[in-house]
Amino acid sequence: MSKRILCVGLVCVDFKTVVKQYPLEDTNQRTMDTIMERGGNASNSATVLSMLGCDVEYFGTVSDCQNKNFIMSDFEEYGVNISNIVICNNSKCPVSIVIVNSENGSRTILHSNRCLRELTYEDFKMVDLSLYNWIHFEGRPNNDDIRLMILDIKKYNLSVDCHKRITISLEFEKIRTYPLDIIPLVDYAFFSKDYAKHYGFNDMETFVSQKSAEKNKTVICAWGECGAAAKIPDSSVVTSKAFPPKQMVDTTGAGDTFIAACLYSLIHGLSLEEALDSGCCLAGAKCGIMGLRGLK
Ligand code: ADP
Ligand code: FRU
Repeated sequence: MSKRILCVGLVCVDFKTVVKQYPLEDTNQRTMDTIMERGGNASNSATVLSMLGCDVEYFGTVSDCQNKNFIMSDFEEYGVNISNIVICNNSKCPVSIVIVNSENGSRTILHSNRCLRELTYEDFKMVDLSLYNWIHFEGRPNNDDIRLMILDIKKYNLSVDCHKRITISLEFEKIRTYPLDIIPLVDYAFFSKDYAKHYGFNDMETFVSQKSAEKNKTVICAWGECGAAAKIPDSSVVTSKAFPPKQMVDTTGAGDTFIAACLYSLIHGLSLEEALDSGCCLAGAKCGIMGLRGLK
């Protein structure tokens, strides 16, 4: 039986407003369109994995507010399993206002978490690990809980035959302080260019090289129009160029698409270099369309 991929992290609602030009403060401009979409890194990666034909599940908290039905029916429409989601009462769904500049496809995200609680280790204990062959975590403020979840998976892996083991990946995207001692516990660590730049790195090659040596782990970093780089400890840095579309339409979720395509390739036995190439290729295609619909 082929197994499932579990994507753990945020789902939110994106109110995406497409503008002719990036607005100036305190001006009034008519926008080209406003679209409501399901967003959040783990949720977006799950969508793309499903489009690629994977059996994929999203796992996270969802508020029992008026957006719950939209979120749940959208997951269903895209074929993403949500059988373990945790519905939280007395909360509001996190939302993002996303300004998409039609001149260059850039996305400016204004995110409000609105106090929806993060997933806990107790929530995770309900999950039947034998269903999965890959679990991907989006680094969030609940990193202490994520660490416990990862330790459980590692314990599980020691108790089963090699072919039943779960591969673990983790993404650190936002500029915040992450407990980097989690990295040695995972198989693949994804970092964003925003994170790398914040810590003073000016290029993806130096970043993956240094981080991989420091943590003795495979580190992958997507870097917008430069493509992406990765490094396995004790081997050289591999890179992929970017594959820009004819016209940049919307870069929201490019990083999430990149991760999904990398996971897909690695699950199907491709090399890290091939995974980067397919990640950049699909992420490039995503930049050429609005949202994720029609990506594949
Ligand atoms: P994020 O969405 O997390 O900010 P990036 O901007 O690093 O992620 O983009 C992820 C991937 O999307 C890149 O590795 C690249 O392949 C593709 N991509 C993003 N922006 C561009 C661009 N301007 N031109 C071509 N490809 C891009
Ligand atoms: C894109 C995205 C959006 C969401 C925001 C959350 O990567 O997941 O869908 O609004 O980032 O940070």
